[in-house]
Amino acid sequence: MKSIFLAVAAIGASLLVTAQQKQPIYLDLSKPIEERVENALSLMAAEEKVSLCYAQSKFSSKGVPRLGIPEVWTDDGPHGIREEVLWDEWGGANWTNDSCTAFPALTCLSATFNPKLSLLYGTSIGEEARYRNKTVLLGPGVNIYRTPLNGRNFEYLGEDPYLSSRMVVPYIQGVQSIGVAACVKHFALNNQEAWRGHINVDLSDRALNEIYLPAFKAAVQEAKVWSIMGAYNQFRGRHCCHNDLLLNKILKGDWKFDGVVISDWGGVHDTDQAVNNGLDLEMGTYTDGLTTKGKFPYSDYYLANPFLKGIKEGKYDITLLDDKSRRILRLIFRTTMSPNRPFGRFVSPQHSEAALRIAQEGIVLLKNEQQFFPVPAGQYKKIAVIGENATRSLVIGGGSSSLKVAYEQSPLEGLTAKYGKDHIVYSLGYASGPAVYGREEPSKLNADSLIAAAMDVAKHADIVFFIGGLNKNHFQDCEGGDRQSLSLPFGQDKLIDALLKVNKNTAVVLLSGNAVSMPWVNKVPAIIQGWYLGAEAGNALADVISGEVNPSGKLPFSFPKKLEDNAAHFYGKISYPGDSVNQYYKEDILVGYRWFDTKKIAPQFSFGFGLSYTSFDLGPLSTDRLTYSKDDVIRVKFTLKNTGSRYGAEVAQLYVNDPICTVPRPVKELKAFEKVFLQPGETKTVELDVKVADFAFYDEGKKDWNIEAGDFMLQMGNSSGNISQKIKIVVK
Ligand code: GLC
Repeated sequence: MKSIFLAVAAIGASLLVTAQQKQPIYLDLSKPIEERVENALSLMAAEEKVSLCYAQSKFSSKGVPRLGIPEVWTDDGPHGIREEVLWDEWGGANWTNDSCTAFPALTCLSATFNPKLSLLYGTSIGEEARYRNKTVLLGPGVNIYRTPLNGRNFEYLGEDPYLSSRMVVPYIQGVQSIGVAACVKHFALNNQEAWRGHINVDLSDRALNEIYLPAFKAAVQEAKVWSIMGAYNQFRGRHCCHNDLLLNKILKGDWKFDGVVISDWGGVHDTDQAVNNGLDLEMGTYTDGLTTKGKFPYSDYYLANPFLKGIKEGKYDITLLDDKSRRILRLIFRTTMSPNRPFGRFVSPQHSEAALRIAQEGIVLLKNEQQFFPVPAGQYKKIAVIGENATRSLVIGGGSSSLKVAYEQSPLEGLTAKYGKDHIVYSLGYASGPAVYGREEPSKLNADSLIAAAMDVAKHADIVFFIGGLNKNHFQDCEGGDRQSLSLPFGQDKLIDALLKVNKNTAVVLLSGNAVSMPWVNKVPAIIQGWYLGAEAGNALADVISGEVNPSGKLPFSFPKKLEDNAAHFYGKISYPGDSVNQYYKEDILVGYRWFDTKKIAPQFSFGFGLSYTSFDLGPLSTDRLTYSKDDVIRVKFTLKNTGSRYGAEVAQLYVNDPICTVPRPVKELKAFEKVFLQPGETKTVELDVKVADFAFYDEGKKDWNIEAGDFMLQMGNSSGNISQKIKIVVK
């Protein structure tokens, strides 16, 4: 008996050993990724390599079934995990397990000026993507706020390349720490929606490198982002999804990007260019849905059969195919085939807490006369809440970032919970119509009767909270189209004037992802810039309005007084929106506050501006030395004191000016910031390290960054429009 047992055990052991010996390296989770990639590649036929490079459905692409290499599942978006769609449709599949946590829009995250919250944001949304078994999260977006009309500004991080860079890195690190690839987008120069599919953008190399590339470069070199999405538009005559300069020279060459270039959906237009100009994964090209049937199946994608045919005929070198396949395999081994891939969570209390914190810290107090805010519960008997944005859902619409959510607490619900339903009276005030993609559908309600009803409510109230702004309708904060004017839509300016006539204690709360003109700015006692605040919108707003939370947000973009004051609108149509074929960024590097400062135009509200319920004193600015070499780090020191009676936070901002330079430079550029929380009366000494190399400009002659010796003025303040400390240093 024993001998039989031993014999069986020996056979079993030998089978195990041979199995282990036969275990291919790519499945050996203890092996380094690069070895596993090379091994998998060596086992794949050309057909299998090509099949990695294009979609098999609306949001997925093939793995290698024969080898057990999983498919790649992508999903939108930057603010939450999009609902499941049908195989080859944009429309929802009506699953019942995919209602997600809606996090605040990225303009809100940026307005926190708090990179720690970016990490919290990325980790939280990464857990939701992981739980929904996504390989790639199609976000974050870091296109620059060049014009207040851009329909997708709400998805991005504002007008300043340094702020965008500091805020995008931790978000990506957070997402990827959960074993999900982030996909920074849209690379590059997709800074408007008008003619986005083809407009041919051009600009100076300085503007490209100093304004539009830094956030992408930080995503690649600091956050090590695992994928990047090509933009729809053209740049210097080539579509960005297959643009040799952008993808081969800058991204994969200079920046050493080792991840996957994914096209935007429908952004690919040519096989030769897609093969040779740096694209790795083609998504979203038109198809009628099925690989084997239909007039345009997936197998007809530019990187599908045409690519395979070219490989077999020797038209395309196999090294091009191997490079694409390597990158996609690397993405898979970093995510779904990673040995220590964490688990996710979905609609967890932690995610609601994160959404609340980010919303609370992102809200910006723009005006607050006679201490209108905070309004403690119980102070007034009757509070009128007026405006459609107090009740309308702001997580649906807006294009690809639209969400099917587990819940969304509206401002009215939040305020009612805070003040009690006996003290709140609501009136719609204005109506905007449904959020329909691609066209406007005005409301059928009568505007005048809505105003009359709102005036009646306001007249009999102690104070009025007007809650309006923009929304996710077409021509508002929505993908696929730009806004048509800087004004508040749907008759809101007229309504605000009407409310002020019957009750001067009317505060304005704007929920939007863009600046708006404010004809009533001098007539209202208080203004709050809220953002698309997500699931916890109501609680966050009510916490700030009631004083439970002291607002600490700062504007991530300037508010112009009128559209013509904005740089992109100063040089006529060729500069914005272009002539329908070409566009040239004539303002060059002078985007946002860089423009307002240099042209001495006063904005309505400055980049970096935001009030608090307490007050702060920025103490003396000092540096460890006064003379530096180009490779030095400057140790900047200052004190910050809370001179008021409430706990709060201030954002100290350090701007730099290079007064004498062979090229024109902005009056100042943000090069460091720090958000400091202080108890009443508390003083903190803050030290910041600032690299002299960060003061460089892009030298078009040298085609590289350059810094000229001489004086540099360090300027510290709590907004780009409020510098309180200056110190001159010399760079040798
Ligand atoms: C859209 C957007 C992009 C999105 C993709 C998939 O057109 O431009 O941001 O991730 O297609 O929905």
